[in-house]
Amino acid sequence: HRVVVVNGPNLGRLGVREPEVYGYQDLTQLKKDCLLWGQELGLSVEVRQTDDEGQMVSWMHQAVDRKTAVVINPAAFTHYSYSLADAAAQVSKSGMPLIEVHISNPASRETFRKHSVISPIATATITGMGFYGYRLALEAVAHFSEEIDK
Ligand code: DQA
Repeated sequence: HRVVVVNGPNLGRLGVREPEVYGYQDLTQLKKDCLLWGQELGLSVEVRQTDDEGQMVSWMHQAVDRKTAVVINPAAFTHYSYSLADAAAQVSKSGMPLIEVHISNPASRETFRKHSVISPIATATITGMGFYGYRLALEAVAHFSEEIDK
């Protein structure tokens, strides 16, 4: 099973940006972790990052067309991007899992982070677990993939 791990704006700055919130490890490490976890779970994983909303929307369309599961950290787009929400909804409505991940726990932070426009259309949401949240998201994809195969 294929899964694309999509990271939104400023996540290319992991390790440098607010390490007390997002940790000291960088995006390269996150990529390595996700590829290893994918191997362990029998998933073919690709990890991407963009600061561009249109790029993220295109990646959702691509996931629908290729029937690829999605793990998504929409970063700040989480809180206001209806175009990304509409695009992500096409993935989950197509029957593929779309797991929303946040490294931090946005519910415990500033008010503007408490609302997600992605959560209502996500298959599941994992927050506050650091990079390990991506591992849990990949496990969720593996679980749902088994359900789809039945
Ligand atoms: C984040 C939380 C968002 O509120 C924030 O804009 C991010 C990262 C997280 O992973 O905790 O950029 O999605």
